[in-house]
Amino acid sequence: MTEPAGLRGKLTDYGDSEFALFLRKAFIKGAGYSDDSLNRTVVGIVNTGSGFNPCHGNMPQLIEAVQRGVMLAGGLPVEFPTISLHESFAQPTSMLLRNLMSMDTEEMIRALPVDAVVLIGGCDKTVPAQLMGAASAGIPAIQLVTGSMLSGTHRGQRVGACTDCRAFWGRYRSEEIDDAEIAEVNSALAPSVGTCSVAGTASTMACVAEAAGIALPGSATPPAVTADRVRIAELTGRRATQLAHEGLTIDRILTADAIENALRVLLAVGGSTNGIVHLAAVAGRLGYTLDLARFDEMSEQTPVLVDLKPAGSHYMEDSSDEIRTGQTRSAIRRAVAWSRGA
Ligand code: FES
Repeated sequence: MTEPAGLRGKLTDYGDSEFALFLRKAFIKGAGYSDDSLNRTVVGIVNTGSGFNPCHGNMPQLIEAVQRGVMLAGGLPVEFPTISLHESFAQPTSMLLRNLMSMDTEEMIRALPVDAVVLIGGCDKTVPAQLMGAASAGIPAIQLVTGSMLSGTHRGQRVGACTDCRAFWGRYRSEEIDDAEIAEVNSALAPSVGTCSVAGTASTMACVAEAAGIALPGSATPPAVTADRVRIAELTGRRATQLAHEGLTIDRILTADAIENALRVLLAVGGSTNGIVHLAAVAGRLGYTLDLARFDEMSEQTPVLVDLKPAGSHYMEDSSDEIRTGQTRSAIRRAVAWSRGA
Protein backbone atom coordinates (compact mmCIF):
# COMPACT_ATOMS: atom_id res chain seq x y z
CA MET A 1 0.00 0.00 0.00
CA THR A 2 1.21 3.50 -0.82
CA GLU A 3 -0.12 6.83 0.33
CA PRO A 4 -1.51 8.60 -2.73
CA ALA A 5 -0.18 12.12 -3.17
CA GLY A 6 -3.53 13.54 -4.22
CA LEU A 7 -3.48 17.24 -4.90
CA ARG A 8 0.03 17.48 -3.43
CA GLY A 9 1.39 15.51 -6.36
CA LYS A 10 2.93 16.83 -9.59
CA LEU A 11 3.17 20.43 -8.46
CA THR A 12 3.68 23.21 -10.95
CA ASP A 13 7.32 24.25 -10.99
CA TYR A 14 7.41 27.73 -9.52
CA GLY A 15 10.66 27.02 -7.65
CA ASP A 16 8.73 26.84 -4.34
CA SER A 17 6.68 23.69 -3.85
CA GLU A 18 4.78 24.97 -0.82
CA PHE A 19 3.73 28.04 -2.79
CA ALA A 20 2.73 25.81 -5.73
CA LEU A 21 0.39 23.81 -3.50
CA PHE A 22 -0.93 26.99 -1.86
CA LEU A 23 -1.73 28.46 -5.28
CA ARG A 24 -3.23 25.25 -6.64
CA LYS A 25 -5.61 24.97 -3.71
CA ALA A 26 -6.51 28.66 -3.91
CA PHE A 27 -7.52 28.28 -7.56
CA ILE A 28 -9.49 25.07 -7.21
CA LYS A 29 -11.33 26.42 -4.17
CA GLY A 30 -12.76 28.92 -6.62
CA ALA A 31 -14.76 25.98 -7.95
CA GLY A 32 -16.23 25.37 -4.49
CA TYR A 33 -14.09 22.53 -3.13
CA SER A 34 -13.61 22.08 0.63
CA ASP A 35 -10.26 21.31 2.30
CA ASP A 36 -11.62 17.86 3.17
CA SER A 37 -12.31 16.99 -0.48
CA LEU A 38 -8.92 18.37 -1.55
CA ASN A 39 -7.14 16.04 0.89
CA ARG A 40 -8.60 12.91 -0.75
CA THR A 41 -7.08 10.47 -3.19
CA VAL A 42 -7.61 11.97 -6.64
CA VAL A 43 -9.03 9.77 -9.39
CA GLY A 44 -8.93 11.32 -12.84
CA ILE A 45 -11.73 10.46 -15.24
CA VAL A 46 -10.76 10.78 -18.88
CA ASN A 47 -13.73 12.32 -20.66
CA THR A 48 -13.84 11.57 -24.39
CA GLY A 49 -17.35 12.86 -24.92
CA SER A 50 -17.88 14.86 -28.11
CA GLY A 51 -20.81 16.06 -30.15
CA PHE A 52 -19.05 14.35 -33.06
CA ASN A 53 -18.85 11.00 -31.29
CA PRO A 54 -22.22 9.24 -30.85
CA CYS A 55 -20.33 6.07 -29.86
CA HIS A 56 -19.56 7.99 -26.66
CA GLY A 57 -23.04 9.53 -26.35
CA ASN A 58 -23.59 8.09 -22.87
CA MET A 59 -20.45 9.79 -21.52
CA PRO A 60 -22.24 12.17 -19.09
CA GLN A 61 -24.10 9.28 -17.44
CA LEU A 62 -20.95 7.14 -17.23
CA ILE A 63 -18.92 9.99 -15.73
CA GLU A 64 -21.61 10.57 -13.10
CA ALA A 65 -21.57 6.87 -12.17
CA VAL A 66 -17.76 6.70 -12.04
CA GLN A 67 -17.76 9.78 -9.80
CA ARG A 68 -20.25 8.04 -7.51
CA GLY A 69 -18.02 4.97 -7.30
CA VAL A 70 -14.93 7.02 -6.52
CA MET A 71 -16.72 8.94 -3.77
CA LEU A 72 -18.17 5.77 -2.27
CA ALA A 73 -14.59 4.56 -1.94
CA GLY A 74 -13.52 7.81 -0.28
CA GLY A 75 -11.77 9.44 -3.21
CA LEU A 76 -12.14 12.70 -5.09
CA PRO A 77 -13.13 12.24 -8.75
CA VAL A 78 -12.00 14.89 -11.22
CA GLU A 79 -12.81 14.58 -14.89
CA PHE A 80 -10.77 16.09 -17.70
CA PRO A 81 -11.07 15.99 -21.50
CA THR A 82 -8.86 14.54 -24.17
CA ILE A 83 -9.21 14.12 -27.92
CA SER A 84 -12.19 12.00 -29.00
CA LEU A 85 -12.16 10.00 -32.26
CA HIS A 86 -15.14 8.61 -34.17
CA GLU A 87 -14.65 6.48 -37.25
CA SER A 88 -16.94 8.57 -39.47
CA PHE A 89 -15.80 11.95 -38.18
CA ALA A 90 -12.06 11.92 -38.81
CA GLN A 91 -10.67 13.01 -42.15
CA PRO A 92 -8.76 11.38 -43.80
CA THR A 93 -8.92 8.51 -41.27
CA SER A 94 -9.07 8.09 -37.51
CA MET A 95 -5.97 5.89 -37.62
CA LEU A 96 -3.90 8.96 -38.47
CA LEU A 97 -4.99 10.47 -35.15
CA ARG A 98 -4.74 7.43 -32.83
CA ASN A 99 -1.18 8.16 -31.78
CA LEU A 100 -1.99 11.84 -31.25
CA MET A 101 -4.81 10.79 -28.92
CA SER A 102 -2.44 8.45 -27.09
CA MET A 103 0.04 11.30 -26.65
CA ASP A 104 -2.72 13.61 -25.40
CA THR A 105 -3.83 10.94 -22.92
CA GLU A 106 -0.28 10.22 -21.75
CA GLU A 107 0.75 13.84 -21.33
CA MET A 108 -2.39 14.87 -19.46
CA ILE A 109 -2.03 11.91 -17.09
CA ARG A 110 1.60 12.87 -16.53
CA ALA A 111 0.81 16.54 -16.00
CA LEU A 112 -2.24 16.36 -13.74
CA PRO A 113 -2.27 15.45 -10.03
CA VAL A 114 -4.13 12.15 -10.42
CA ASP A 115 -3.37 9.07 -8.31
CA ALA A 116 -5.25 6.79 -10.72
CA VAL A 117 -7.28 7.22 -13.88
CA VAL A 118 -10.46 5.80 -15.34
CA LEU A 119 -10.12 5.76 -19.12
CA ILE A 120 -13.54 6.05 -20.73
CA GLY A 121 -13.41 5.15 -24.39
CA GLY A 122 -15.17 2.93 -26.86
CA CYS A 123 -15.00 3.84 -30.53
CA ASP A 124 -12.36 1.93 -32.44
CA LYS A 125 -9.17 3.94 -31.98
CA THR A 126 -9.99 5.36 -28.58
CA VAL A 127 -9.40 2.33 -26.34
CA PRO A 128 -6.02 1.48 -27.90
CA ALA A 129 -5.01 5.16 -27.75
CA GLN A 130 -5.97 5.33 -24.08
CA LEU A 131 -4.19 2.10 -23.18
CA MET A 132 -1.07 3.21 -25.05
CA GLY A 133 -1.08 6.58 -23.29
CA ALA A 134 -1.75 5.13 -19.85
CA ALA A 135 0.90 2.44 -20.38
CA SER A 136 3.49 5.10 -21.10
CA ALA A 137 2.35 7.28 -18.20
CA GLY A 138 2.68 4.25 -15.92
CA ILE A 139 0.21 5.04 -13.14
CA PRO A 140 -2.73 2.92 -11.86
CA ALA A 141 -5.36 2.88 -14.60
CA ILE A 142 -8.55 1.06 -15.49
CA GLN A 143 -10.50 1.00 -18.75
CA LEU A 144 -14.24 1.58 -18.98
CA VAL A 145 -15.83 1.14 -22.39
CA THR A 146 -18.97 3.00 -23.38
CA GLY A 147 -20.69 -0.23 -24.51
CA SER A 148 -22.28 -1.33 -27.73
CA MET A 149 -25.30 0.25 -29.40
CA LEU A 150 -28.57 -1.62 -29.77
CA SER A 151 -29.54 -3.36 -32.99
CA GLY A 152 -32.42 -2.05 -35.12
CA THR A 153 -35.05 -3.42 -37.47
CA HIS A 154 -35.63 -2.75 -41.14
CA ARG A 155 -38.80 -4.20 -42.72
CA GLY A 156 -38.73 -7.12 -40.29
CA GLN A 157 -35.02 -7.77 -40.62
CA ARG A 158 -32.69 -7.16 -37.73
CA VAL A 159 -29.88 -4.73 -38.59
CA GLY A 160 -26.91 -3.21 -36.82
CA ALA A 161 -23.82 -1.15 -37.42
CA CYS A 162 -21.79 -1.80 -39.15
CA THR A 163 -21.70 -5.14 -40.96
CA ASP A 164 -25.16 -4.35 -42.33
CA CYS A 165 -24.12 -0.83 -43.37
CA ARG A 166 -21.93 -2.15 -46.15
CA ALA A 167 -24.27 -5.02 -47.01
CA PHE A 168 -27.20 -2.66 -47.65
CA TRP A 169 -25.00 -0.14 -49.43
CA GLY A 170 -23.83 -2.91 -51.77
CA ARG A 171 -27.45 -3.79 -52.52
CA TYR A 172 -28.21 -0.13 -53.20
CA ARG A 173 -25.22 0.23 -55.51
CA SER A 174 -26.32 -2.83 -57.45
CA GLU A 175 -29.86 -1.33 -57.66
CA GLU A 176 -31.49 -4.13 -55.66
CA ILE A 177 -32.99 -1.47 -53.38
CA ASP A 178 -34.03 2.08 -54.24
CA ASP A 179 -33.39 5.55 -52.79
CA ALA A 180 -36.41 5.40 -50.49
CA GLU A 181 -35.37 2.10 -48.95
CA ILE A 182 -31.72 3.04 -48.42
CA ALA A 183 -32.93 6.17 -46.63
CA GLU A 184 -35.04 3.97 -44.33
CA VAL A 185 -32.05 1.73 -43.66
CA ASN A 186 -29.94 4.76 -42.84
CA SER A 187 -32.26 5.57 -39.93
CA ALA A 188 -32.34 2.00 -38.62
CA LEU A 189 -28.68 0.96 -38.51
CA ALA A 190 -27.75 2.80 -35.31
CA PRO A 191 -30.83 2.98 -33.08
CA SER A 192 -28.98 4.17 -29.97
CA VAL A 193 -25.73 5.67 -28.81
CA GLY A 194 -22.84 3.26 -28.23
CA THR A 195 -20.24 1.44 -30.27
CA CYS A 196 -20.84 -0.78 -33.29
CA SER A 197 -22.86 -3.85 -32.37
CA VAL A 198 -20.70 -6.44 -34.16
CA ALA A 199 -17.20 -7.82 -33.67
CA GLY A 200 -15.57 -4.75 -35.13
CA THR A 201 -12.59 -3.07 -33.53
CA ALA A 202 -14.58 -1.48 -30.70
CA SER A 203 -16.16 -4.74 -29.48
CA THR A 204 -12.87 -6.54 -29.97
CA MET A 205 -10.91 -4.02 -27.92
CA ALA A 206 -13.58 -4.10 -25.21
CA CYS A 207 -13.24 -7.89 -24.96
CA VAL A 208 -9.46 -7.92 -25.05
CA ALA A 209 -9.25 -5.16 -22.44
CA GLU A 210 -11.37 -7.28 -20.13
CA ALA A 211 -9.34 -10.40 -20.93
CA ALA A 212 -6.11 -8.56 -20.20
CA GLY A 213 -7.44 -7.52 -16.79
CA ILE A 214 -7.37 -3.77 -17.42
CA ALA A 215 -11.19 -3.58 -17.35
CA LEU A 216 -13.53 -5.15 -14.79
CA PRO A 217 -14.75 -8.74 -15.28
CA GLY A 218 -18.02 -8.72 -17.21
CA SER A 219 -17.52 -5.14 -18.33
CA ALA A 220 -16.99 -5.67 -22.07
CA THR A 221 -20.47 -6.57 -23.19
CA PRO A 222 -23.39 -4.70 -21.56
CA PRO A 223 -24.81 -2.26 -24.14
CA ALA A 224 -24.35 1.47 -23.73
CA VAL A 225 -27.93 2.23 -22.73
CA THR A 226 -28.39 -0.43 -20.02
CA ALA A 227 -28.41 -0.22 -16.24
CA ASP A 228 -25.60 -2.81 -16.22
CA ARG A 229 -23.36 -0.40 -18.12
CA VAL A 230 -23.96 2.33 -15.55
CA ARG A 231 -23.42 -0.06 -12.63
CA ILE A 232 -20.12 -1.15 -14.17
CA ALA A 233 -19.13 2.51 -14.37
CA GLU A 234 -19.80 2.91 -10.65
CA LEU A 235 -17.80 -0.23 -9.82
CA THR A 236 -14.98 0.95 -12.07
CA GLY A 237 -14.76 4.21 -10.14
CA ARG A 238 -14.63 2.33 -6.89
CA ARG A 239 -11.92 -0.01 -8.19
CA ALA A 240 -9.85 2.90 -9.52
CA THR A 241 -9.71 4.39 -6.03
CA GLN A 242 -8.54 1.06 -4.64
CA LEU A 243 -5.89 0.80 -7.37
CA ALA A 244 -4.51 4.18 -6.29
CA HIS A 245 -4.11 2.93 -2.72
CA GLU A 246 -2.63 -0.37 -3.86
CA GLY A 247 -0.21 1.42 -6.18
CA LEU A 248 -1.10 -1.18 -8.80
CA THR A 249 0.37 0.35 -11.92
CA ILE A 250 -0.70 -0.61 -15.43
CA ASP A 251 2.57 -2.41 -16.24
CA ARG A 252 1.82 -4.91 -13.45
CA ILE A 253 -1.56 -5.71 -15.05
CA LEU A 254 -0.69 -5.62 -18.75
CA THR A 255 2.05 -8.25 -18.53
CA ALA A 256 3.21 -10.41 -21.43
CA ASP A 257 0.85 -13.16 -20.19
CA ALA A 258 -2.07 -10.74 -20.04
CA ILE A 259 -1.41 -9.67 -23.61
CA GLU A 260 -1.33 -13.31 -24.69
CA ASN A 261 -4.69 -13.80 -22.96
CA ALA A 262 -5.99 -10.82 -24.88
CA LEU A 263 -4.84 -12.32 -28.16
CA ARG A 264 -6.46 -15.62 -27.21
CA VAL A 265 -9.78 -13.91 -26.62
CA LEU A 266 -9.47 -11.96 -29.85
CA LEU A 267 -9.35 -15.33 -31.60
CA ALA A 268 -12.12 -16.89 -29.50
CA VAL A 269 -14.60 -14.09 -30.19
CA GLY A 270 -13.78 -13.91 -33.91
CA GLY A 271 -12.47 -10.40 -33.30
CA SER A 272 -11.19 -7.76 -35.66
CA THR A 273 -7.75 -8.09 -37.22
CA ASN A 274 -7.31 -4.41 -36.32
CA GLY A 275 -7.10 -5.58 -32.73
CA ILE A 276 -3.73 -7.16 -33.50
CA VAL A 277 -2.36 -3.87 -34.78
CA HIS A 278 -3.58 -2.08 -31.66
CA LEU A 279 -2.39 -4.73 -29.22
CA ALA A 280 1.04 -4.61 -30.85
CA ALA A 281 1.11 -0.85 -30.18
CA VAL A 282 -0.01 -1.24 -26.55
CA ALA A 283 2.51 -4.04 -26.00
CA GLY A 284 5.21 -1.88 -27.54
CA ARG A 285 4.57 0.86 -24.98
CA LEU A 286 5.26 -1.75 -22.28
CA GLY A 287 8.41 -3.05 -23.91
CA TYR A 288 6.98 -6.23 -25.46
CA THR A 289 6.93 -7.34 -29.07
CA LEU A 290 3.99 -9.39 -30.30
CA ASP A 291 5.14 -12.79 -31.45
CA LEU A 292 3.13 -13.29 -34.64
CA ALA A 293 4.37 -16.88 -35.02
CA ARG A 294 2.96 -17.61 -31.55
CA PHE A 295 -0.27 -15.86 -32.54
CA ASP A 296 -0.50 -18.06 -35.61
CA GLU A 297 0.04 -21.15 -33.41
CA MET A 298 -2.72 -19.95 -31.04
CA SER A 299 -5.07 -19.44 -33.96
CA GLU A 300 -4.68 -23.15 -34.79
CA GLN A 301 -5.64 -24.11 -31.22
CA THR A 302 -8.44 -21.65 -30.49
CA PRO A 303 -12.05 -22.31 -31.41
CA VAL A 304 -14.37 -19.42 -32.23
CA LEU A 305 -16.82 -19.49 -29.33
CA VAL A 306 -19.07 -16.61 -30.29
CA ASP A 307 -21.62 -16.44 -33.09
CA LEU A 308 -21.21 -12.72 -33.69
CA LYS A 309 -21.29 -10.69 -36.89
CA PRO A 310 -19.49 -10.28 -39.23
CA ALA A 311 -18.22 -13.90 -38.97
CA GLY A 312 -21.49 -15.07 -37.38
CA SER A 313 -25.04 -13.86 -37.25
CA HIS A 314 -25.69 -12.17 -33.89
CA TYR A 315 -25.11 -8.83 -32.18
CA MET A 316 -23.31 -7.76 -28.99
CA GLU A 317 -26.53 -7.29 -27.05
CA ASP A 318 -27.79 -10.84 -27.60
CA SER A 319 -28.46 -13.00 -24.59
CA SER A 320 -30.36 -16.21 -25.39
CA ASP A 321 -29.29 -19.53 -23.95
CA GLU A 322 -26.76 -21.30 -26.09
CA ILE A 323 -23.40 -20.49 -27.58
CA ARG A 324 -23.85 -20.38 -31.34
CA THR A 325 -27.54 -19.64 -30.97
CA GLY A 326 -27.10 -16.12 -29.77
CA GLN A 327 -25.57 -15.99 -26.31
CA THR A 328 -23.04 -13.43 -27.34
CA ARG A 329 -22.64 -11.76 -23.99
CA SER A 330 -22.18 -14.84 -21.87
CA ALA A 331 -20.19 -16.57 -24.58
CA ILE A 332 -17.75 -13.70 -24.54
CA ARG A 333 -17.57 -13.95 -20.77
CA ARG A 334 -16.82 -17.66 -21.12
CA ALA A 335 -14.14 -16.93 -23.69
CA VAL A 336 -12.53 -14.42 -21.34
CA ALA A 337 -12.70 -16.86 -18.41
CA TRP A 338 -11.34 -19.64 -20.61
CA SER A 339 -8.36 -17.51 -21.66
CA ARG A 340 -7.50 -16.84 -18.03
CA GLY A 341 -7.41 -20.56 -17.36
CA ALA A 342 -5.64 -21.44 -20.62
FE1 FES B 1 -17.60 3.95 -33.30
FE2 FES B 1 -18.02 1.75 -34.94
S1 FES B 1 -18.05 3.88 -35.44
S2 FES B 1 -17.46 1.83 -32.85
